[in-house]
This record gives sequence, structure tokens and C-alpha cells, in this order.
Amino acid sequence: LASVEVDIAAVQPGQAITIMWRGKPVVIRNRTEKEVEEGKTVKLEELKDPLARNANADASADASDANRAAAGKENILVMTKVCTHLGCIPLDESGEFGGWFCPCHGSVYDTAGRIRKGPAPENLPIPPYAFLSDTKIRIG
Ligand code: FES
Repeated sequence: LASVEVDIAAVQPGQAITIMWRGKPVVIRNRTEKEVEEGKTVKLEELKDPLARNANADASADASDANRAAAGKENILVMTKVCTHLGCIPLDESGEFGGWFCPCHGSVYDTAGRIRKGPAPENLPIPPYAFLSDTKIRIG
């Protein structure tokens, strides 16, 4: 399917759902206030990959939390869950930065899906998507 529609009304803060889009898992996480704060307080110079990697933003946009989260909904993160090292599927809510952990070779992503440790070179990519209503998202 070129695009999929997802209803996230039931996804509470701290929860995530994973759907398939073009054969790849896409995670939609409703981040807690603490997770958003953690994402915001990181200094950009601490990041291994300084770019947002967000298909909905300019290619040169920086990897600030705001440029990774959904526009106007800082708690929502929509992300392709394919490790940028060699393509394994990172585990939700794990790793020392409270984001994702890739069990294959130990890449650690933070609560904004940015690579923080391990061999992965880039932040987890953000696919094109749009909110159709307050709780409905079209991916692709
Ligand atoms: Fe994820 Fe290697 S594939 S760390």
C-alpha cells in the first residue's frame, strides 16, 4: 500500500503502536512529558547525527526534538523502526536513553529516535505523514 491510515485515539501517553508501511515497521509513540523533556534537553552538539531525517521537514533541518516530533504535537513521534546500521528492528522503550535499543549490535536511540551510542550512523528516519484529524494519521 502506498499509504496507510492509523487511528491513534487509544494510544495513551507512554504507549506505542507499530504498523507496517511499505513492508517496514513504523512506530507511533505517544511520549510522556518526561520523555519529551529528555528529548528537548539534549544539546545538539552531543548528537552523533545532527540532522532531523524527517521526510516532512527540510533536508537540512537539525535533529532538535521539535524537528523530530509531529508538528504541533510534541508528544507524538512517528518513525520507521529499522536500525540505520544493518536494518534490524530496534526494541521499544529500551536502552539507556529510554528510547530504542537494537539488539543486533547494540545501537541505542533516545526518546526522539536519535542515535546516541553504537554503530548506527543515522537517526531513525521519519516517513512522510499527515494528521487527517486529531487522532488519525495517514502515513505515506
Ligand atoms: Fe542495529 Fe546493527 S543493525 S546495531
